[in-house]
Amino acid sequence: MIADISANGRKVGITGIGAYVPEKVLTNEDLSRMVDTSDEWITERTGIRERHIAAPDQAASDLALPACRQALERAGVRAEEIDYLVVGTCTPDMMFPTTGTLLAHKLGATNAAAYDILAGCTGFLYALVQAYGAVASGLATRALVVGSEALSKITNWEDRATCVLFGDGAGAAVIEPVSTGGFIAFELGADGSGGKDLMVPAGGSRAPAARETVDQDLHFIHMNGPEIYRFATRAMVASAQKTLEHAAMAVDDLDLYIPHQANRRIIDHAARILGLPQEKVFINLDRYGNTSSASVPLCLVEADEQGLLKPGSNVLLSAVGAGLTWGSALMTWSDGR
Ligand code: ACO
Repeated sequence: MIADISANGRKVGITGIGAYVPEKVLTNEDLSRMVDTSDEWITERTGIRERHIAAPDQAASDLALPACRQALERAGVRAEEIDYLVVGTCTPDMMFPTTGTLLAHKLGATNAAAYDILAGCTGFLYALVQAYGAVASGLATRALVVGSEALSKITNWEDRATCVLFGDGAGAAVIEPVSTGGFIAFELGADGSGGKDLMVPAGGSRAPAARETVDQDLHFIHMNGPEIYRFATRAMVASAQKTLEHAAMAVDDLDLYIPHQANRRIIDHAARILGLPQEKVFINLDRYGNTSSASVPLCLVEADEQGLLKPGSNVLLSAVGAGLTWGSALMTWSDGR
């Protein structure tokens, strides 16, 4: 799916953002005492130095709650004014009810339709596109888009090939009609033929939870690292290029590129092929690892706090993830409603 939406009458953009990460920090040094790895290997191969880990009683909706409250406060919007709430997550509190409904209840967003989207690490971008569509069409007035993940709960802490990569966190954005700026173009894609390369094999209707599935570690993330690496480098670049082309914009027109934070080498490769100088590429994975759907909004919040999101800035968000899925969103940063 690709859309240049600049011709649409209604400008829709982000009016407030928020983020939250749990308190506990797990460093590479800590990991080297848990599995056969080293700070040097993890830093060199991934760029990750530490990640945040949810407490035993913190699920995705708990991580999302403070992020949403911050986004609402910054947008100057009350929870009851939200009429559309969508959560991108692959670590929902439970199979059902959805994290969206539980979160809406905790927030007091009593007037919102609420649900989840499962699109792996592209979850926030898929959610963003749906919220845009709802607000631009007039179906919704104010949407809250959330990416929230407690990946530590589905990580096999004995598997050094995966446990060094992931972290927990949440980010949120309020989506409303805006007077200046707003979204310009989106691209989303999916290819289920690569689904087998990144999955949690059991716990669904294919392999329901059973003693054997637990014994065989099938409720944890299973990943073909090199295959996902090849896919990610290809898809990040292609999605960004298609989106820019569709909007008739050049790479030089971009002020900031916010890529999904999976691996520093994937980001550097994408930036090099796209022709983006380092100062226009936002990176914070050294402190958070791969937080899946939370990664892009966590970056947005830090970029804003560093003064990198000025009204009029052209910002490109791109992500790839399980599914396989990928997506990009191009926007001009708005100065509010
Ligand atoms: N510490 C030390 N050695 C390790 C570790 C570790 N944590 N993990 C793997 N190794 C070893 C392997 O066993 C292998 O050893 P061998 O050569 O003796 O067999 C060696 O390191 C090389 O393994 P590779 O898997 O080939 O290493 P690679 O350079 O590909 O890096 C990595 C692995 C970091 C996982 C890389 O493939 C990658 O980043 N892939 C993409 C993964 C990703 O981004 N996943 C996120 C999922 S969703 C998304 O965001 C797309």
